[in-house]
Amino acid sequence: MATVVRFLVFLVQALPSLGLLQSPNIRELYRFPNGTWLENIAVRPNGNLLITDATTSSLWGIPPSTDSIRSSPRLVHHFDEAKDMGGIAELTPDTYAVIASNSVWKIDLSKDRHSPSPVRIADIPAGFLNGMAALDGGNAVVISDSRLGLAWYLNVQSGNYSISHQHETMQANSDLGMLIGVNGLKIMDDYMYYSNSPKQIFCRVRIDTRTSRAMGPYEIISYNTLADDFAIDPRRIGYLASWTNNEIIKVYPDGLHEVVAGAEYSRVLMSATAAAFGRTQSDRHVLYVTTGGETGPPVHDTASLGGKVMAVFIGS
Ligand SMILES: *[C@@H]1O[C@H](CO)[C@@H](O)[C@H](O)[C@H]1NC(C)=O
Ligand SMILES: *[C@@H]1O[C@H](CO)[C@@H](O)[C@H](O)[C@H]1NC(C)=O
Repeated sequence: MATVVRFLVFLVQALPSLGLLQSPNIRELYRFPNGTWLENIAVRPNGNLLITDATTSSLWGIPPSTDSIRSSPRLVHHFDEAKDMGGIAELTPDTYAVIASNSVWKIDLSKDRHSPSPVRIADIPAGFLNGMAALDGGNAVVISDSRLGLAWYLNVQSGNYSISHQHETMQANSDLGMLIGVNGLKIMDDYMYYSNSPKQIFCRVRIDTRTSRAMGPYEIISYNTLADDFAIDPRRIGYLASWTNNEIIKVYPDGLHEVVAGAEYSRVLMSATAAAFGRTQSDRHVLYVTTGGETGPPVHDTASLGGKVMAVFIGS
């Protein structure tokens, strides 16, 4: 009996190091105040992180810290008129398109680092602009509209926009308690990848990388993979921030998938919203993950712990 008890005590003590409670491969960089919903992330060429905060309609810059120094965010811009924030896409080196409500702005961090003034590209008669990726050498972006269940093409130079993708794999429904469909969106090579949260599918379509027009069928890569936004690596492996499932799901090109960080009942990656890989020599195996805080859907509940920026070490 005593041996059994000792074994159980040992097992409980060993749980953290077995990765069952909190993986040692995950580190918290910064937690925002209670009620903060972080929505999206991009990594700058200098390694700093850019993060959209839907609660205060702000764009934050965060230097990823070394172990000894705590990261602290710097306000890059507050979007006064916006009610929430969406995706970030790098157009040309260190110049970004940013979604603030249904407006898309351009912000150039390559020159004036201290007080960059964003320029409005367009207001789109959208349902809810969400994920975004650049194409045509940064002259255009494609944006998911989660409420209308489609994707917009936006010419960054002219501000002209049009609906470029409308397909059943993007359609919205209310299975998650809010009307939402296509969510995260990224381009790798000549494929556009996207998630549909309530349908729990991860998809792709081959596109013309100048116009974003579909050049092939809309393909479902994986089922049962609930996701918000995601990162995709050059091997076309997706790392999905699984939102209410509180995990990072690795999806191989053939659709096989596995949980690589977090767990359904864990708070470590609770409400994971987006992910992006580091870009410097020392952190290119680090997946930076934003979360919406320890809360359910984006309710901006000031009584719940705020969104975090987490560093997840992914083996090659
Ligand atoms: C933008 O759209 C307007 C109205 O449809 C059109 O007149 C104009 O030529 C377009 N501009 C470009 C650069 O395509
Ligand atoms: C933040 O939320 C936590 C968890 O609900 C609560 O314990 C804490 O008191 C809150 N902090 C503030 C400043 O409201």
